[in-house]
Amino acid sequence: MKEKVTFGSKIGLIAATVGSAVGLGNVWRFPAETQSNGGAAFLLVYIICVFLLGIPVMLGEFSLGRGGKSSALGVYRKLTPGKKWWIAGAISTLASYLILCFYMVVAGWTLEYFIQSITGNLYDVHASTNSELNHLFSGKMQDYVASPLKPIVFTMIVILINLVTLIRGVKKGIEKMSNIMMPLLFVLLLIFVGVSLSLDKAAEGLMFFLNPDFSKITPSVMVNAMGQAFFSLSLGMGILITYAAYYPKDTKLVGTAVTVSLLDLLVAVMMGLIIFPAVTTFGLTGDNLEGATLVFVTLPEIFTHMPCPQLWSSLFFLLLLVAALSSTISIAEVTVMFCQEHLRVSRKTACYIVLLPLILFSSVCSLSQGPLSGYTLLGMNIFDFLDTVTTNILLPLGSIIMCIYAGWILKPGFLQQELTNGGKFRSWMLRPVTFIIRWAAPVLITIIMISQFL
Ligand code: PHE
Repeated sequence: MKEKVTFGSKIGLIAATVGSAVGLGNVWRFPAETQSNGGAAFLLVYIICVFLLGIPVMLGEFSLGRGGKSSALGVYRKLTPGKKWWIAGAISTLASYLILCFYMVVAGWTLEYFIQSITGNLYDVHASTNSELNHLFSGKMQDYVASPLKPIVFTMIVILINLVTLIRGVKKGIEKMSNIMMPLLFVLLLIFVGVSLSLDKAAEGLMFFLNPDFSKITPSVMVNAMGQAFFSLSLGMGILITYAAYYPKDTKLVGTAVTVSLLDLLVAVMMGLIIFPAVTTFGLTGDNLEGATLVFVTLPEIFTHMPCPQLWSSLFFLLLLVAALSSTISIAEVTVMFCQEHLRVSRKTACYIVLLPLILFSSVCSLSQGPLSGYTLLGMNIFDFLDTVTTNILLPLGSIIMCIYAGWILKPGFLQQELTNGGKFRSWMLRPVTFIIRWAAPVLITIIMISQFL
C-alpha cells in the first residue's frame, strides 16, 4: 500500500475519483446504451439510479475504505477477521479484471482514432451528402474496429502504456496529467454540444434523448440503466474502497460523493446532447447503430462540420485516451493490489501477472468484433457477453453484498461515524443514505436483477 498516493488537497482527491469515474463509460458506453434502450426513458431511469442507488452505494464504499484503510479485499478481512465476507471483495476483484479485458480494446480504438486523426487518414473522405459521409465513416470504423490485426496492435500499445505506468507507480504523473486534461475535456465537450445543437435535425435527436416514452421502461431497460450507473460511477468493484482508504479524516464523504456523481452525470448528458442530434441529422440507421461503435462514427461526422476537423478530432481523442487511462489504471490497481497482498509478490511482478494475460484476453475480445463474431455466448459475442455479465450481474451483486455488510454486519454506528466524520457535523442525508444502504439498495437491486430473468 505504500506506493499509493495520499491525497493532498480536496480538489486532488475529487479529481482522482472523478478521473476513475469519467472515462469510456460516459463517452462510449452511455450513448450506446441510451440508443439501444429507448432514449429518454433510459436516461430517466439512469438518473434515478444515480441518485437513488449510485450515491448511497458510493458512500458505502467510501465509508468502508476510509474506515478500514485497506484494499477492496483487505477491508473485509480487517474489519471482520476470520469471516467469509472477503468473498465480496473477491467478486469485485474478478469483475474488475473481466472489465479490463474489453475496456482495453475500446481504449485501443481511442488510440487508433487519435493516430488516424493526427495523420489525417480519418478525414481523407470526400462526400457531398450527409448519408454519403455517414457511409464513409461507417466504412472506416469497420476497418479500424473489426479488422483482425490493426485494433489488436493498438490494444497492445494501450496495455503497454498501462504496464509502464503501473510499474513505475507514476500515478502522480497520470494524475497530474488528468487534473489538467479532465477540465479541458469538459470545455471541449461543451463546444461540441454547441456545434451539435446547431445541426439541421438536432431537435429530432433531442426529442429522442430528452422526451421520455414511459412505455419503453421495461425490466431490461432498468437493469441496463442500473448497470450503466454502477459502471460509470466505478461502483461495485472496490475501486472507491481503495481510493477512500487514502482520504484524510476530515474529508466530507457525502459532499465528495455528490460532486463526483454530478460531474460524471454531466459528462454523460453532454455526450447525449452531442451524439443524438448527429444521429438524426446524418441519418444513422440499422447496423450503424450497433451500440458499441456508435460514437466512433458520429463524432467524426460532427468534426467535419467544424473548421479544422483534424485538429478537434486529435485533441478530443487524446483527451479521451487520458480519461480512459485514468480509468484503466484505477481498474487494474484492484487486481495489482490483490496480487501484491495475496500472492506476496513485488509490485512489478504483480503488474506483469495482471497485464500480460490481457494480451491474450483482450485480443480475443477484439477479434470478437470481427473474425470471431460468430462465436457467441447467450447470443452475444464474447466482448458483449463480458460487458453485459460484469455490468449487469457482477457489479450489482458486489454492491448488494457491500451494502449488507456496511449496513448490517458492521457495528450499527459505523456508517454514521464515517458519514459525519465522527459526529463533527450533522448531515440531513445521513438518515436517508443509511436507510438506502440497509434496506432500499439491497432490495431494489435484487428485484431489478431478478426481473431481467422473468
Ligand atoms: N467508470 C469508468 C468509466 O465510466 C470505468 C470504470 C469502471 C472505472 C469500473 C473503474 C471501474 O469509464
